[in-house]
Amino acid sequence: MTLLQVDGLTRRFGALEALADVSIAVNEGEVFGLIGPNGSGKTTFFNVVTGIYPPSLGRISLGGLDIGGMPPHRVSKHGLARTFQNLRLVPQMNVFDNIWLAQHQRPGMSLLDILAIGGRRERSRRHEVDTLLEKCGLADMRQSLASDLPLPDQRRLEIARAMARNPRLLLLDEPAGGMTPLETQDVARMIREVAAPGRTLIVIEHKMDLISDICDRAAVLHFGAKIAEGTPAEVLSDPQVLDVYLGKQADHA
Ligand SMILES: Nc1ncnc2c1ncn2[C@@H]1O[C@H](COP(=O)(O)OP(=O)(O)O)[C@@H](O)[C@H]1O
Ligand SMILES: [Mg+2]
Repeated sequence: MTLLQVDGLTRRFGALEALADVSIAVNEGEVFGLIGPNGSGKTTFFNVVTGIYPPSLGRISLGGLDIGGMPPHRVSKHGLARTFQNLRLVPQMNVFDNIWLAQHQRPGMSLLDILAIGGRRERSRRHEVDTLLEKCGLADMRQSLASDLPLPDQRRLEIARAMARNPRLLLLDEPAGGMTPLETQDVARMIREVAAPGRTLIVIEHKMDLISDICDRAAVLHFGAKIAEGTPAEVLSDPQVLDVYLGKQADHA
């Protein structure tokens, strides 16, 4: 069953078409990769789907509901969460509180849940945060300030924050950005084993091995247009993709 259906999505910034007539359907439970050179429209795709920018043209539906042009807080209520290429942690808060805060933005969370301090509800929510920290390999640093963490842990924390909102669709923008190959393998394992089970994911990534490792299918953007779609093996052996993508990769190596 399709969870996210995007049809003919176009987003213009002045004369620039950052997204040009893009159609993508992501199935429930799937890990879908979005790849392409720098400036090809990947982050813009996330920005338009999450409501930061309305589409210039086209339709976006989440589980059959038309979310095109909805503001971000409403889109998020319908079960969509994302991470940012430039992290959006609360730097002066510790790891636990960063997740605790994000949990408040979960759809269906009532004022009573938020205000029920010291009660059973609070204990069960604290337990949930601890479980998530454990699963994400962040338990040992629960008291550390977010700003004191090394980059790979900050990225893991950002993913954990998005997961605390229990989204149906999770969008990850370059989760392994700036990481070494070993750190990339680590985050790949976290995405595969912790973020993906029972959830639908779209992952933006430059690193081809990460795409091959975690994605069921992938699409390639080039100057805002979709030029290929298929399994990672199909996409990565497509002559046009090799030409366009690998030719460009030197630009941001
Ligand atoms: N808010 C904006 N205003 C003007 N141009 C933008 C804006 N956001 C993105 N762009 C442009 O759209 C193109 C796609 O950008 P982006 O989606 O960030 O690419 P990617 O994430 O694939 O590197 C780029 O040329 C970028 O400069
Ligand atoms: Mg980007």
